[in-house]
Amino acid sequence: MADRSPAPDTPELRDRWGGFAFTETYKAKADEAIARYPDGRQKSAVMPLLDLAQRQVGEETDTQGWLPLPVIEYVAEYLDMPVIRVLEVATFYFMYNLKPVGKYHVQVCGTTPCMLRGSDALFETCKKRGMVKGHVSQDGLWTLTEVECMGNCATAPMAQINDDNYEDLTPERLDAVLDALAAGEQPKPGTQEPGRHTSEPSDGVTTLKEMVDANYDYRSEW
Ligand code: FES
Repeated sequence: MADRSPAPDTPELRDRWGGFAFTETYKAKADEAIARYPDGRQKSAVMPLLDLAQRQVGEETDTQGWLPLPVIEYVAEYLDMPVIRVLEVATFYFMYNLKPVGKYHVQVCGTTPCMLRGSDALFETCKKRGMVKGHVSQDGLWTLTEVECMGNCATAPMAQINDDNYEDLTPERLDAVLDALAAGEQPKPGTQEPGRHTSEPSDGVTTLKEMVDANYDYRSEW
């Protein structure tokens, strides 16, 4: 389980992030998220606003982004919420980073199905590239986190890297994904198993075969 405590509240942190405010682009997105809820229920937008704040911090730091305490306070003020309520949300959900991360946040699933399908070897692959769990690598590119089930058990083992999931991984396939990212390319997300499209059986579909290439209406057969 990764450490979910916020980064220490220091004068340096206040200096760097005390003046945080949404840019025009992010403010427009934040206001759009708030407008999805009825009047007086703007607090319901706390999750998208934290996500937007993290993304803006990411753009400013060329990383996946994180949530320094002054940024969490800014979101609380934006939504007229007590800071502790926003902090509770930020510390509960793994999608929010509470400490600085690298340009790519490599979250490898270590839960049983992924473990049985080889996640230990994926952690080893990351380790060989200088990644240490919970730390930013020396080149600033990577942060490694072990996470619990990400819902891709049918295509285990898997890793989520920033916004994309990479599945059916082997050490070689993970290396190829990481090499591509390091080179500034965007590897194809999803399964890395040749010939597999999503999470259908790895040796081909066994049901709903007419649906493979095009939509097919089975209703007349029911
Ligand atoms: S156990 Fe890894 S995605 Fe479910």
